[in-house]
Amino acid sequence: MTAEHRVRLPGRDIECGEQQSILDATLRGGGWLSHSCTQGTCGTCKVKVLCGTVDHGASPEYTLTAEERERGLALACMASPCTDVVVEPLGVVADDGTPRYPLRDYEGTVTVLDDVASNTRRLKIRLDAAMEFNAGQYAEILVPGTGVGRQYSMANAPSESRELEFHIKRTDHGIATAGWIFGNLAVGDRVSLRGPLGQFGIARRHDEPAILIGGGTGLAPLTSIVRHALEHDLLPELYLYHGGRRRDDLYDGDYFRDLERAHPQFHYRPALSEEIWDGACGLVTDVVLDDFVTCKGLRAYLCGPPPMVDAAVKALKRRRMAPRLVAREEFTASTPVLSSVL
Ligand SMILES: Cc1cc2nc3c(=O)[nH]c(=O)nc-3n(C[C@H](O)[C@H](O)[C@H](O)COP(=O)(O)OP(=O)(O)OC[C@H]3O[C@@H](n4cnc5c(N)ncnc54)[C@H](O)[C@@H]3O)c2cc1C
Ligand code: FES
Repeated sequence: MTAEHRVRLPGRDIECGEQQSILDATLRGGGWLSHSCTQGTCGTCKVKVLCGTVDHGASPEYTLTAEERERGLALACMASPCTDVVVEPLGVVADDGTPRYPLRDYEGTVTVLDDVASNTRRLKIRLDAAMEFNAGQYAEILVPGTGVGRQYSMANAPSESRELEFHIKRTDHGIATAGWIFGNLAVGDRVSLRGPLGQFGIARRHDEPAILIGGGTGLAPLTSIVRHALEHDLLPELYLYHGGRRRDDLYDGDYFRDLERAHPQFHYRPALSEEIWDGACGLVTDVVLDDFVTCKGLRAYLCGPPPMVDAAVKALKRRRMAPRLVAREEFTASTPVLSSVL
């Protein structure tokens, strides 16, 4: 990519290619900006353009209003510079010691593509070169021939950096899923992706016990967090909740039950909302409410569809968990127009 414009961030100048997003250039250049979805839907990456002009690309109005554009705000994941620019992050980037691994392009070969639950596949990709990442982060997998990339969270521990594991739910008419991963993708195929991305997850030791709540394939980054936390003794206690509607929505139960036997500090509690069984019944967030009289002094990692994550945030608030101890990742759908440039 040819360097076209200079992006000045506090303490760092970065070269940004033509049509490259400010976020992409920053993360590749070893810098850091807060971000979550990298597809224009969450607003976490908002910056103020202090000097110069940007092309807002496909920034949606619901994330970046006309009035905000007027005020010089931009979504770093969607905007690319038209001139040299000076930008200021809106949120303070706290240095909590989390390692920041630079964004890179990767190639790999599909080694596993298995149906593990209803409309859910496990995809493993053996990379040509290892990817360093924090447990909870995700990669953007490029859908061949479309110019489209989709975000999928790593389920493997960061220590297994050569073979990435993903859990993928089929979306009807979806470009990446129905049209490819649940279509003609096969073991042995070559795949392009980029990563790591996102700021959800765990990288250091915490004193508080943790509740992890995942809906559907929201289990993926939580699996990575559990594996990493147990490998490095990062949490004193872990309570993993996996919510589904029916029994065939759940997967990896045997794996987690084995993990429970091997690690007394790990607890696994699957819950079904539309089937009576010998396990927990009801919405996963209601099951958590029943299990905990108070969540004061605990932390949480929440991941899945946005309504489940919102319900979990409310439930934990009712049980008095401190908001600063609640980390969340929402599997939002992409905006209609997505380029392959972040
Ligand atoms: C940070 C992050 C991490 C994520 N991690 C995971 C993960 O680990 N596992 C996982 O399963 N998902 C994950 N997702 C969601 C994932 O990135 C995709 O959004 C999802 O797989 C759907 O992609 P798709 O290309 O198949 O669907 P899209 O093509 O993006 O479809 C989006 C929507 O448009 C509708 N649509 C598309 N085409 C048509 C059409 N022709 N007619 C009618 N409706 C249509 C679909 O029904 C869907 O509602 C994550 C999302 C984010 C933001
Ligand atoms: S809108 Fe840019 S990271 Fe979500």
